[in-house]
Amino acid sequence: MPSNVNKQRKHILLAYFSATGNTRKIAQVIHKKLKEHNISVTILDITSHSTREERLSLEQYDAVCFGFPIYSMRAPRICREWLRTLDGKGMRCSVFFTYGGFGKDPAHYFIKQLLEDQHFVLVSTAEFLGAHTFNYSGWSAVTNRPNDLDFQVAEDYAMKTVRRFLDHDAVELDDFEKPMYDASQLDQAEKYRFSLITKLPTRDANSCSMCGICQQLCPVHAMDMHTGIANNKCIACFRCIANCPDGVLHTNDISSSWDKKLAMHKMTEQTLEALESKLYF
Ligand SMILES: Cc1cc2nc3c(=O)[nH]c(=O)nc-3n(C[C@H](O)[C@H](O)[C@H](O)COP(=O)(O)O)c2cc1C
Repeated sequence: MPSNVNKQRKHILLAYFSATGNTRKIAQVIHKKLKEHNISVTILDITSHSTREERLSLEQYDAVCFGFPIYSMRAPRICREWLRTLDGKGMRCSVFFTYGGFGKDPAHYFIKQLLEDQHFVLVSTAEFLGAHTFNYSGWSAVTNRPNDLDFQVAEDYAMKTVRRFLDHDAVELDDFEKPMYDASQLDQAEKYRFSLITKLPTRDANSCSMCGICQQLCPVHAMDMHTGIANNKCIACFRCIANCPDGVLHTNDISSSWDKKLAMHKMTEQTLEALESKLYF
């Protein structure tokens, strides 16, 4: 830990989106590590619609750390839209992603572009393995991640990133290699997920206690607790399924596509599981 951190007490905003909890777990580790070193951190969970709608003033912060899952090889569209409402005014920032083991490189490339457009200076990024959301529909991608090793990498990320936030010299991250897909191809990939997930979250009505948590938590106001069906605003984040206390929400079973998915990426469950979380400085 650099000895100068406490002398130059900074206030960091840690803003994250997490539908099924992986990104939140990493954010919690980062928060704990920074607190242990007496660094002042404000947490902002932007998963809910209402938080993203509130105007965020960055005036009181010295730097921002953003955390997002990777959706179709980029930060989720609703998070990118939220970022476009911010003006970094030259502020330093960092981004960490969680992902299910596939196609993470474009996320780093495109987030750097976006943050530069919004006048932030990106000093680091990171990627952490996290059980794939579509495991709820029958896939088996990195089922037990993030694990203790990932958390160690998260602690390392927290401390190295704070050093970058404090460094007096220029610290901007180099450009990432241009991905083979452009933004419009990734837009198409984003639509493709709905050819896999043919049933948006729906419910076995008999054992539903009508608690309404699904409707309350939906990040895009797509879920109707009365009908138990999500409308076409649904982004397939499965926050409702992950948090249903009655366990009555589900989508269709896509386990038959799992072998094809592995083959397409030339991966096996073992090679996926062997992937390591990584930092970029
Ligand atoms: C719509 C959607 C698209 C996704 N696309 C990818 C992807 O391109 N690559 C990948 O490895 N994981 C992908 N995932 C999996 C998530 O990135 C991963 O499970 C993440 O850790 C979820 O974070 P959370 O638990 O904080 O919501 C996708 C998940 C969803 C819901």
